[in-house]
Order: sequence, then C-alpha cells, then structure tokens
Amino acid sequence: MNQEELSQEERIKRDYYDLVGQWDIPIVHMGGLAATSELLQLLGVNEKSNVLDVGCGTGFTACRIAKNYGCRVVGVDVSEKMVARSRERARKENVAIEFEVADATELPFEDGFFDVVIMESFLTIVGEASTIQKALHDIARVVKSGGRVGANEVFCDESTPPELRERIRGLLKGSMGPGQGLGRYTPTEFRAFFEDAGLTVIEIIRKPTMQITRDLIKVMGWSGFIYYTFRVIYDIITSSKLRYGVVKAAPAKRIMERRKDTKKFFGFALIVARKPE
Ligand SMILES: C[S@@+](CC[C@H](N)C(=O)[O-])C[C@H]1O[C@@H](n2cnc3c(N)ncnc32)[C@H](O)[C@@H]1O
Repeated sequence: MNQEELSQEERIKRDYYDLVGQWDIPIVHMGGLAATSELLQLLGVNEKSNVLDVGCGTGFTACRIAKNYGCRVVGVDVSEKMVARSRERARKENVAIEFEVADATELPFEDGFFDVVIMESFLTIVGEASTIQKALHDIARVVKSGGRVGANEVFCDESTPPELRERIRGLLKGSMGPGQGLGRYTPTEFRAFFEDAGLTVIEIIRKPTMQITRDLIKVMGWSGFIYYTFRVIYDIITSSKLRYGVVKAAPAKRIMERRKDTKKFFGFALIVARKPE
C-alpha cells in the first residue's frame, strides 16, 4: 500500500472517530458495562492505582473508573473530538481526570508511569498488525514492572474457515464504520501481539458476541438513546461516505453477530497481561 492510500485510509478512519465523538456514544465495545467491570477486576484496579485508558473514546470508562475506585485516571485518544467529549463528561460528572490527545504509538508519558493500562475495542481499531505491535510496545513501556495491561477485543476463533476470515476482512476494508480489524485476529494471535511487546499473558477469557443496546439505554436514558439513534440515521442519510461504509460493513455485522451458522466463530475476549518484574 503506498503512502497516499495509507493516509487516505487513515483520514477516513479519523473522520469516523470524529463523527462518533459528535454522537457522544458512551460505550462502543462489546460486552458493555459488565465486560468493563470484569476486566477492571481482573486487572486488580484499586484506589491506589494509576490507570491509563488508551483509545478512551468519549471518556465513559475513564469516568467510571475514577468514580468507582477513586483512583487516578488518564485517558488518551487520537481524536480531538473524542477528547473534547471526554473532558465535557468529566466536568459534568464532577470527576478529576486528565484527558489528552495522543497517538497510542507515541504516548507522552515516562517509562513505567502507570500501574494499569486498559483498552476497550482499541487494538482492532488502531490499524494493521504492525501498528498494533507499535502501540502495544509503547503501552508496555509506560506500564511499570509488575503492572497489568488489559484489553477487550472482538476476535475470530482459531477454527474459523479461512474464506470466512477473508470475507470479513474484505467487507470491513476501507469501510467507514466498524473497526477494520474487528473479528480479524484469533486469541492466539492477540497473545502473540502481547508477547511480542514483552508482556506475559495471564488469561484470555472468551465470550460470545452480544448487543450493547440495553446498556446504552441504561446509560443514556430513553430520550438520549432515541436522540442518538435519530442523529445516526440522519448522518447516514446525509453523508454518502458514511452510507457507503455502513452498507459495506452491514453483512460483516450479520455474519459475526446474527447468522446462526457463522456467529459461533466470533466473540469478544478479555485479555489480561502483566509486565514482568
Ligand atoms: C471503538 S472506539 C472505543 C472507545 C472506547 N474505548 C469504548 O470502548 O467505548 C476506539 C477509539 O480508539 C481511538 N483511536 C484510534 N486510533 C488511535 C490511536 N492511534 N491512538 C489513540 N487512540 C486511537 C479512536 O479515536 C476511538 O475513540
């Protein structure tokens, strides 16, 4: 892929993040509230933890951590709109959290600064395998020895037929919409990414795919959810780029989440790793 194609692809992705930032959607990752709670527990977060949320989106998880544990939290995201939303949320919810615009492959923090790093629906979004590796290397750098790194990512099972993997890859490629790496990697491949960054994988918990609509209604309230739904529909109708992406990616969503014969191959994984002492 040449430089021009790359930057265009990156531009499409950035536009999409900005749009989602405008929608102010609180949760994007699969498993919703329960998955976040389980991951935080597995990561051993407590009131003394210094936590980094990478690809924090609109800051919902970061605010939840600060409120529930009373610990220090920093959130980073590459999208200015996302970070603006995160700051707004923290202000409204009256929690002190630092949110910064930063690329996960070049984190603006000292080595060993954090006790815990959490990522939700981030590795599948960030780019090709080389970018995932680069991001995980920098994440491993900013976590202290003995600290923990956790992720929640959509995976495809090792038994997935190769042609189905290729189909998902093709459908999501270049689409403005769901992450292009969704359902692309197996838990074994995720483990290899973490190990390549010098992290020891302690546990990978696999869960079946699921909708997060109920959690969105719980967090946004019915009126917020209805407003958000209409806004998304309006943007899809008025933006040809978004329409193209959503239409192109829709069959992938059906394959991963709805079709009986194929959804068994997909799920989301809670990955917990440790930086060796
Ligand atoms: C699917 S959203 C997940 C948001 C949130 N973690 C959640 O689960 O609801 C992925 C986020 O990663 C951010 N992102 C993508 N590439 C990034 C990068 N290189 N560095 C930091 N953030 C990035 C996007 O802007 C987006 O907000």
